Amino acid sequence: MRYFFLAYALVALLVVGLLGVRGQKFTKPPVRVFPDMDNQDKVKAQSADPFFADGRGARLPVNQTQPRGLNEAGAQSIGGIPEYEFGGQTGYYYTGHVGDYFGSGMPEELKLTEESALSLIERGKERYGIYCAVCHGQSGDGQGITGQYGVPGIANFHLDTFKPASYPDGRMFETITVGKGMMGGYGYNIPVNDRWAIIAYVRTLQTAKEAK
Ligand code: HEC
Repeated sequence: MRYFFLAYALVALLVVGLLGVRGQKFTKPPVRVFPDMDNQDKVKAQSADPFFADGRGARLPVNQTQPRGLNEAGAQSIGGIPEYEFGGQTGYYYTGHVGDYFGSGMPEELKLTEESALSLIERGKERYGIYCAVCHGQSGDGQGITGQYGVPGIANFHLDTFKPASYPDGRMFETITVGKGMMGGYGYNIPVNDRWAIIAYVRTLQTAKEAK
């Protein structure tokens, strides 16, 4: 009988606890077991922010920046900033595609000569070192430092899968631009010209690996 009363009291408490205060108004914020993102540090529209010297919360865009996808007049360079990803551009140079397929080879727009090809590769080497080597390794073997910190399945460019015969330059251009699977895209911070430079350098690494 003792247990019956105990259970009865507990059930009563539960029912009252869950349903008893429904419909009432509270002035204090509710207790949040899982706060999720209910409270965020952010500047609300049109409000002041003492963080900035002029106290304005709404900021103008930083000088020399531009919204993604802006290409109103078909410009390839806006405010002196080279083409990143303005959208709307067509052709092999900007997309890596020739019709419905990936193209191969360096695009005509680069106007390569023997000399400029060399400086393109040099440029690619530098850019590759900045953007790709952390994951894909200095030599392109996929053994970059991030692998040790848990980035899985980094592509090894010395596998046949990534040689020009099975992996056209245009496809690599697209991978750099928009990413692929576990890899994020770099179109927003590697200009088009530099993407081709990086591709040229990756091809150089692949060829160098086969040298006797
Ligand atoms: C943060 C690490 C990281 C960086 C930086 C990175 N990659 Fe990758 N990359 C990966 C991973 C991981 C994969 C495997 C993606 C998959 O198959 O899901 C990959 C795959 C690839 C592939 C093969 C994609 C396919 O179609 O299978 C290419 C080509 C490639 N990367 C090129 C590059 C180039 C060029 C750069 C430099 C601009 C670069 N990656 C920078 C992590 C990275």
